[in-house]
Amino acid sequence: MTAPDIPNLYLVGFMGTGKTTVGRQVARELGAEFLDSDREIERTAGRPVAEIFSEDGEAAFRGLERKFIDEGHPARGCVVACGGGLIVPDGMLELLLARGVVVCLHASLAMILQRTTHTAHRPLLQVADRASRISELYAQREAVYRRAALTVLTDRRTQREVVAHVLRLYQRQLKLPARKK
Ligand code: S3P
Repeated sequence: MTAPDIPNLYLVGFMGTGKTTVGRQVARELGAEFLDSDREIERTAGRPVAEIFSEDGEAAFRGLERKFIDEGHPARGCVVACGGGLIVPDGMLELLLARGVVVCLHASLAMILQRTTHTAHRPLLQVADRASRISELYAQREAVYRRAALTVLTDRRTQREVVAHVLRLYQRQLKLPARKK
């Protein structure tokens, strides 16, 4: 199947907000290609994200995220689930906005805590007090997440509802006719 010639949709937001699960489903609905920035970076680097963090440091990982956005994915036709910190460095959100539609998934801290329980692959959450770490990181990043104007609250919504909401926002943004189910 060839990906449709539609602008990319970038899903951003904190760890544990469901970007990958929702993104995969949204891509299926649009007939678009699905990409997860972490998986693409791992594939190119030949190492897991946790190893890139431990061997090269977070700044090197952020550089790989930037490279992935700059030159590592198709310019159209895909839904990209972005790692939680991808839009944090200056200019990254603007880069995504120039390339497509950006939708930010939000969840309460309690929900994030619950959804990141089995989280051995997330280097930033390998700490004794995960709850404090999450609140601290969230506080540092909240402003940038809020700047992504299209946001979807995921608490108390089924995955299906979140997917439908993301699709509506995307279609409204592009003024595409809504897909009939
Ligand atoms: C990170 C989020 C992770 C991954 C890396 C760093 C972050 O992605 O990119 O562990 O800084 O928030 P997910 O949001 O998909 O867990």
